[in-house]
Amino acid sequence: MNKNTTQLIHSIPVDPLTGAIAVPIYQTSTYVQDAPGINKGFDYARTNNPTRAILENVIAELENGSTGIAFSSGLAAIDAVVKLLQSGDEILAVDDIYGGAFRLFEQVYKKFGINVNYVDTTNVENVFNSITSKTKLIWIETPTNPTLKISDIEAIAKIAKAHQCLLCVDNTFASPALQQPILLGADIVVHSATKYLGGHCDLIAGLVATKEKEVGEKVKFIQNASGAILSPFDSWLVIRGIETLPLRVKQHCINAQVVAEFLQTHPSVDKVFYPGLKDHPNHNIAAKQSKGFGGIVSFTLKEDTEEAATRFVTSTNLFKLAESLGGVKSLLCHPAQMTHKSIPAERRRAAGVADSLIRLSVGLEDVNDLVKDIEQALNKIKTRNLQTV
Ligand SMILES: Cc1ncc(COP(=O)(O)O)c(C=O)c1O
Repeated sequence: MNKNTTQLIHSIPVDPLTGAIAVPIYQTSTYVQDAPGINKGFDYARTNNPTRAILENVIAELENGSTGIAFSSGLAAIDAVVKLLQSGDEILAVDDIYGGAFRLFEQVYKKFGINVNYVDTTNVENVFNSITSKTKLIWIETPTNPTLKISDIEAIAKIAKAHQCLLCVDNTFASPALQQPILLGADIVVHSATKYLGGHCDLIAGLVATKEKEVGEKVKFIQNASGAILSPFDSWLVIRGIETLPLRVKQHCINAQVVAEFLQTHPSVDKVFYPGLKDHPNHNIAAKQSKGFGGIVSFTLKEDTEEAATRFVTSTNLFKLAESLGGVKSLLCHPAQMTHKSIPAERRRAAGVADSLIRLSVGLEDVNDLVKDIEQALNKIKTRNLQTV
C-alpha cells in the first residue's frame, strides 16, 4: 500500500454522530424521509447503507481507485463486472483462472453470447496475439489460483489501453497490502474479500474498485439493479479485518517463504510454486509489481496422483482441509477434487493444475510448527511409497 499503516487505520472514520471508535453497524432496511425524495442521503438499504459505504470508501482508497462497491461474495463482484459487457463481446482471460469464475463464464455468460478466450497471460505476447476486435475485457489473476502464475500487470494494461478494452485484475491473492493494480494501469480490481481482506474465515464478501468514476457508477448501478449487496454486519467484519491487513499479510509472507523453501528440500515433493522463490519463472515481475509474495504456496508430489494428494491432505494436523484461504489458521486444499473440480481434467492439467497439486494457505501459526506438520505428512507418503516398491 502506498498509504502507510497509520493512514490506513485512520481512513476508517470515527462515527461523527456519537464518537464511536468502531464503525457503527446500521442494521436497517430503510430510512425515514422528511418529504418524498428529501432524505439524509439514504433511502433504501439495497441502494446504500452507511456501514457498507465506509467499506466501499476504504477499498477505493486502498486500491487507489475512485469508487468501491461491496458485494455479497467474490463471485457476485465478478458477476457485476461481466455485466458491464454486451452480448457479442469477448473476454480474454488467464488460463489458470479461479474455477468459480470459469464456471460463471462458461455456464452462465456463454449462453448470453459472451465468449471467453483463455490464454497463458504470463507471456504478454499471448495477450497481444489473442486480442480480437470483439475483446472488451481482459481478465487476469496475479498470482493465480492455485499455480501462483504471475502476469505483468503494467504491460497488459498497456495492451488493454491500446485496444480500448478494460483490464480487470482479480487481486484476491496479493491483496492491496502487496499490490495495487490500478497504480499499474488496471481499470478494475476485484476481490474475494472472503480471503485476506476479511482475514478470519468468518464471512463471504466481494469488492470491486474502479479507476474511473464512470465505470464505478456503472458497477454501482448493477449492484443496485441486480441486488447482490454485502450486509451491514459483513461489511463491518471486512472493515475490522482490513484494520490488521498489513500486519497479517506481512507475517503470511514470511511464513510462506519458509514453507516454500522447506518443500523444495523434501524428496517426496516434485515442483514448488511460490513467486518468492528465485527460480519461479516470473519472480522478477512479482518483485517489481508487488511488495511481497503472499501467503499461498502450491506444490506437486513425485507420485503425481489424486490418491497421493488425498493421503497428504488427510495427514496434516495444523493445516486443516478446507476450501478458501487467507485466514489466520492454515488451510490446505486439493484443487483437482475441490476448488477446480468444475474445470475439465484435461483443461485443468493443461493450465498446470496437476492431479497431485496441493495448495497451502499458510496461516499465522509459528512457522516451525507448520513445517513440522508438513514434514510428518510428507513422510507418511514416503513411507507408503517405500512399502509399495
Ligand atoms: C481468486 C479468487 N477470486 C474469486 C473467488 C470467489 O470468491 P467468493 O468465494 O468470495 O465468492 C475466489 C474464491 O476462492 C478466488 O480464489
